[in-house]
Amino acid sequence: MKVITGIKKMQLWNKGVRKKGETIGFVPTMGYLHQGHLSLMRRAKKENDRLVVSIFVNPTQFGPGEDFKRYPRNFKRDQRLSRACGADVIFHPQAKKMYPPDFKTYVEVGKLGERLCGRSRPGHFRGVTTIVNKLFNIVQPDTAYFGQKDAQQAIIISRMAQDLNLPLKIKVLPIVREKDGLAMSSRNTYLSADARKNAIILYKSLQTAVGMIQSGYNSPREIIFKMREMINSKPGAKIDYIKIVDARTLKEVKRLEGRLLIAVAVYFNKTRLIDNKVVQSYKRKKNGLYRRR
Ligand code: PAJ
Repeated sequence: MKVITGIKKMQLWNKGVRKKGETIGFVPTMGYLHQGHLSLMRRAKKENDRLVVSIFVNPTQFGPGEDFKRYPRNFKRDQRLSRACGADVIFHPQAKKMYPPDFKTYVEVGKLGERLCGRSRPGHFRGVTTIVNKLFNIVQPDTAYFGQKDAQQAIIISRMAQDLNLPLKIKVLPIVREKDGLAMSSRNTYLSADARKNAIILYKSLQTAVGMIQSGYNSPREIIFKMREMINSKPGAKIDYIKIVDARTLKEVKRLEGRLLIAVAVYFNKTRLIDNKVVQSYKRKKNGLYRRR
């Protein structure tokens, strides 16, 4: 496994691979790898001849006062884990090379980046789409792999790839969770022992919401009220948002119809955790059967 830091070097490497007719699977990350990242890497390795993983804590997607400086980093460990997943290359560029002083161009996906997490993190998705677009141009993968854990990010990147006719496939893979249901995240390391225990309420509240929808509740307000109650019962939890939105447009729904995304963001002290579930809402027919709304 190679570690490549130079942008030109990375482009040369993939040119050589393409010449041989081999395919490249790509997993962009900010490092401090966990099983969620590794699930993407294993799938990418299985489906492609070559696997490239990028490890880059991208400054433009962090707002002022966010955790850019203290974001967990452990490159040695990441190297070991990437090698074990069969990575051929870790692309590990320097920030000053990715964003030289005369850098000017950003990619935006309009309103999609302003909803949900975009509200509490203005500019975040502009940073994400810009860096992912840059990484795509540097790595030139056939397929890039993202996690459903960051549902809004996955939707936005898929939109960008379609809108800009990017010559690659985007695949979105399921959320990997701890045994008790907490979604894996590099940021979980910030949690105190108490907060770690209480944080499973995100998953529990999502499960409750799915259960309510499946048993016929059709008022988003009632479901959100129940989730709010559950999360607020945990000391230290501060809700950023709980939303039930159309899984494609991310617009809030008034009635529970079609494919829905239930998304939550909750602070435990300064640590902001997100989680989500996608659910298909069915309508009960007079004969007792369900049909798709
Ligand atoms: P990062 O948070 O490191 O995540 C890298 C990829 O791993 C993302 O696609 C994310 O959705 C996925 N992932 C994280 N936790 C997961 C889990 N529990 N289960 C499944 N997949 C999971 O997301 C980013 O980095 C950055 O925004 C990036 C796309 C690299 C751009 O800087």
